[in-house]
Amino acid sequence: MNSLALKSPAKVNLYLEVLGKRPDGYHELRTLFHRISLCDELILRRIPESKLLLECNHPKLKRVQENIIYKAWKLLSQAVHLTDGVRVTLRKKIPVAAGLGGGSSNAAHFLLGMNRLFNLELPRVTLLRLAEQIGSDVPFFIEDTREALGLGRGEFIIPVSAAKNYWFVLVFPPFGLATREVYERLHAPKLTGLKPTVRIARYFSDCEKPNVSLKLGRNDLFKASAAMRPELKDLIAFIRQLGSKRVFMSGSGPTIVSLHAQKSEAKRLLKSIQRIKPDLHALICKSY
Ligand code: C5P
Repeated sequence: MNSLALKSPAKVNLYLEVLGKRPDGYHELRTLFHRISLCDELILRRIPESKLLLECNHPKLKRVQENIIYKAWKLLSQAVHLTDGVRVTLRKKIPVAAGLGGGSSNAAHFLLGMNRLFNLELPRVTLLRLAEQIGSDVPFFIEDTREALGLGRGEFIIPVSAAKNYWFVLVFPPFGLATREVYERLHAPKLTGLKPTVRIARYFSDCEKPNVSLKLGRNDLFKASAAMRPELKDLIAFIRQLGSKRVFMSGSGPTIVSLHAQKSEAKRLLKSIQRIKPDLHALICKSY
């Protein structure tokens, strides 16, 4: 096998709770990741020199060394000896810096693709360990699951087996938000240095309490993102006025998500958005 084509899907966070700020500067989360049908495309081609070449249709992602795939390539080359290299063609459809995990998905699917293309036979646990060094959202995309709980800084993944099938209207404000800057604006309580096992055990004991459930659409990052871009509040109010019963921001934003059980409902909302605000970029997608 000399080449491989892969789809690299986006995610939305159906729930995102910030439990506090950790001594290492990261924030402790309880989040629900959900994979959606909006996908980038990756083509990997083996080349005889041990290096990474990257072609991308997105103007902001043209410099190889600044692309998250380069980080994945570096870590992989340190972990295994690769005599050959790879030429990557990345066709972006997922907006950049949008809270949809596009870059994280690209990095994860690069690792999954390299594992197949080079017959590396790396077990999932090794791929997960590489993924968590690349970014907090990357491990979710290594797991073969539609939906998963993310604990720790988001990198500790518990797949959800009976995930529902939803339709989504995604609305893309005409700006991006840097995840780090959004987190910097949070005023989360300081956490003591609990070991991950203790935190995770505590999470499960919480879940057993009858009044603890994940209210879909909660996003504790919204206040911080809206402090940077107040128009996000207006956008949510606008979509709610058009009849959406569950509308929220994904991840650190700025993408706004309206959640629907029926395709017809999502289509009706999209039509209304396009009629009233034809300049707003919006689309429909579904669970993947
Ligand atoms: O893990 P990742 O590199 O994607 O995170 C980007 C930035 O977002 C981090 O440098 C950190 O400032 C912030 N972050 C955080 N808590 C998390 C995830 C990310 O504070 N759970």
